[in-house]
Amino acid sequence: MLYDEKMREDILSRLEGYRYTHTLGCEKAAMWLGEKYGEDPQKCSLAMLLHDITKRLSREEQLYLCDKYGIIPCDVEKIEWKMLHGKTAAAIAKDVYKIEDDIAHAIEYHTTGCENMTTLDKIVYLADFIEETRDFKGVEPARALAKKDIDKALLYCFDFSLSDLIERGKLIHKDTMQARNWLIRQGVVRS
Ligand SMILES: [Fe+2]
Ligand SMILES: [Fe+2]
Repeated sequence: MLYDEKMREDILSRLEGYRYTHTLGCEKAAMWLGEKYGEDPQKCSLAMLLHDITKRLSREEQLYLCDKYGIIPCDVEKIEWKMLHGKTAAAIAKDVYKIEDDIAHAIEYHTTGCENMTTLDKIVYLADFIEETRDFKGVEPARALAKKDIDKALLYCFDFSLSDLIERGKLIHKDTMQARNWLIRQGVVRS
């Protein structure tokens, strides 16, 4: 067992309202993806329970945790500081809940993706995108692709997110560009 009921309740007590419902939706999606693509469903569950535990924090609180855990925000993260919640959640997951490095890595990169993503990294990123309470125009194609091919689904998610950021005039994190380029270099195509 990676965690017991007490730890689960402790983690969930950090979440409120929509974030609580979203997290349980993510857990369900990630466990389904884990079964389908050969990853330990318990790892998928624990990564999802923890992935957004710092998302409600203010800019000051995020920066305090960065300082505490030696996280140095990049130029994009200094402006789009909400992105930091992946890194700060991973740091708390390791420090407070003593979770393993592979789970922490998946939590750390759940907002951006990265090069050389593991199956667990991919599952956490994708589950966050497609979980059952999500309702935006790109979600149904992503759900359909997730049933067939995890890499195609992931590439779709990156393309959708990048287009959305461009349309909204937002900054793009280098890790997302690198994640997309890495998939394409692996020969992944959308259809
Ligand atoms: Fe998140
Ligand atoms: Fe999330």
